[in-house]
Amino acid sequence: MTRHFLALGDAGGDALAAMLGDAMDRKVARQDLPKGLPDADAPLAGRVLAMVFEKSSTRTRVSFDVAIRQLGGSALVLEAGNTQLGRGETVADTARVLSRMADAIMLRTDDHAKIEELAHYATVPVINGLTDLSHPCQIVADLQTLLEHGKALPGLEVAWLGDGNNVLNSLVEAAGLMKFNVRIGVPEGYDSDAGFIAQARAGGARIDLVRDAQSAVRGADVVVTDTWISMGQAHAEAKLAAMAPFQVNDALMALAKPDAVFLHCLPAHRGEEVTDTVIDGPRSAVWDEAENRIHAQKAILRWAFGQI
Ligand code: CP
Repeated sequence: MTRHFLALGDAGGDALAAMLGDAMDRKVARQDLPKGLPDADAPLAGRVLAMVFEKSSTRTRVSFDVAIRQLGGSALVLEAGNTQLGRGETVADTARVLSRMADAIMLRTDDHAKIEELAHYATVPVINGLTDLSHPCQIVADLQTLLEHGKALPGLEVAWLGDGNNVLNSLVEAAGLMKFNVRIGVPEGYDSDAGFIAQARAGGARIDLVRDAQSAVRGADVVVTDTWISMGQAHAEAKLAAMAPFQVNDALMALAKPDAVFLHCLPAHRGEEVTDTVIDGPRSAVWDEAENRIHAQKAILRWAFGQI
């Protein structure tokens, strides 16, 4: 059966743990190699990844491109605006054609229903490179980063600050799979998806919703935030005002555990959701997190091809 990675749950907790181990092992094994050289075993030699972007990207684009090269394959980028998909060719027909020409498809889009439709008609693996609903690839890199920073996932206390967005949805999904807890500090009216929360709670995670940043962060092992205005959203003054008390700054970080790690999937809006002193400070792991997008994508690709 074709393995699609539209959500972390498509892999499940055991496979996710195996993917994290694989990502860390491969990262260590090639640490002195130039970034463009393949891994010694080149496990996806000859494979072609088609990357379709309907929204902007730096990290997802570069990390998938470098990842498939390091696995021995190659990537091609389709900007939806320059393809027939952007002129109205159906998602189903695009899926059928790309399945004949490429070995896997990565899509970044707005409407999650579109990637579900793509996966339905594709006969090769489809990977979610971000939708308005979720961003599972990001969370694989985030979990890898936490493990590398000495954080065991079961029982971990993670605080999320700011907008209840797609990254938070995938973080909450991961909590249910890997048995860590999330305190969500989000202002009224900006909550994340209730379905992900219910699923994570059913999986044994403690997911708390609080309306003040201090309660969310107190005693946390990890503090996470993201941009307040996501791609495609209007730069709304009302939203910025509601988010302002949830800025991650030194005063807020002081309430977390002394060895707490700060994560941000980037791009950051410095001075809005996070201050320079935090993102550039000693507890920030954001550059490891960004690099780990490569290592995590490699594990996701290997899983999609049945190698994990
Ligand atoms: N975090 C993330 O997905 O970055 P890009 O939008 O640059 O791909």
